[in-house]
Amino acid sequence: MTTHHLDTQLLHIGSAPFDPKSGTAPVSLPAIRTSTVRFENLEALERAFAKRAAGERSITYGRSGMDTHRALEEVFMELEGGTYCVLAPSGMAAINIAFLGLLKTGDHVLVGDCVYGPVRNLDRALLQGLGIEVTYFAPGRDDVAALIQPNTKVVYVESPGSLLFEMIDMIALAAVAKDNGLILVSDNTWGSGYIYRPLALGADVSVVAGTKYIAGHSDVMLGAVIVKDEKIAARIHSAQYAMGNSLSADDAWLALRGVKTMAVRMAQHARNALEVCKFFDSRKEVARIFHPAWHKDAGFGLWQRDCTGSNGMVSVELNCSPEAAKKFVNALTLFGIGFSWGGFESLVQWVDPGVLASHAYWSSEGHALIRLHIGLESTIDLVEDLAQALDKINH
Ligand SMILES: Cc1ncc(COP(=O)(O)O)c(C=O)c1O
Repeated sequence: MTTHHLDTQLLHIGSAPFDPKSGTAPVSLPAIRTSTVRFENLEALERAFAKRAAGERSITYGRSGMDTHRALEEVFMELEGGTYCVLAPSGMAAINIAFLGLLKTGDHVLVGDCVYGPVRNLDRALLQGLGIEVTYFAPGRDDVAALIQPNTKVVYVESPGSLLFEMIDMIALAAVAKDNGLILVSDNTWGSGYIYRPLALGADVSVVAGTKYIAGHSDVMLGAVIVKDEKIAARIHSAQYAMGNSLSADDAWLALRGVKTMAVRMAQHARNALEVCKFFDSRKEVARIFHPAWHKDAGFGLWQRDCTGSNGMVSVELNCSPEAAKKFVNALTLFGIGFSWGGFESLVQWVDPGVLASHAYWSSEGHALIRLHIGLESTIDLVEDLAQALDKINH
């Protein structure tokens, strides 16, 4: 067990070992690109297969990756406080691994209504056809215990929620899951293991889109599933192996490079986001700010209890129709109109009212919701840009 601070750990995990002959090691672990591996002899091959049969990570073929991938797995395990990790070529692929690894035909899963939108598409496109039943619930409002059926196996949530950043009481939810023998899976892309750690709060599985804050530069697609329990890990490994997911060594390398600066990036995103919240709070066009680290957010208490920091995600309800809010979005010059987040740059998303209809936490029908990722630009410039764009709404 390490006693070092996570910030220190992030810089040292997965370092390249010293070459026994030269006594040197590269500071930056190389991207080991290979489609397969060679074995010294058949005994070495047998040892590798025996390791895999015992549920250990073992290199038998390029698809499971070599040292670069192993180092990135260690980063995720350290961040999330897990003992097993599988990597995936995108966050959505990691979500698929979790669902398909833990559920089979005839099973039922409870899904929070605030999860990443495409999870509903996974339900329609695959789960329904496989005979896996999904019930959506409103975290913090619905009585989860009352929704459990004899065939319920998994509870799947995202905290804070995807569009409104509502904090879920993970400790309370984990207690319900544990009492009923359910596996609790949480999408932790928002926290990325750095500012929020669902496994420490009782969740069994953490799913992360490393595409966002881990890689941090909007240049990589990456997912990870992190687990504490050996039996659950075996099911996750088996699903990942069966699905043939693999991550390119170059993407693993980019993520390893990106994550080295995650601590400073995240802190700056959080500072910038709070500055922007303060600005929004002063404007009459803004009805409500959604950002759990903002002291007026309904989830502020849970954020104080469970999080060690915040990030650049801020949503605002505007005192105007979704149609009128399009003027605001189009007038922004420093915010790219786009879906992602977690990179260095500011982004804005006009949220489709149809999507909000399925979120119980959203109670302002007729108003616009705008989701912003507050990047690392100067907040003087960002606030100026937001101010001139808000001015355009009524013109
Ligand atoms: C919360 C959350 N989870 C998962 C994903 C999926 O990640 P990816 O785009 O890498 O598939 C996203 C992407 O936006 C996300 O916002």
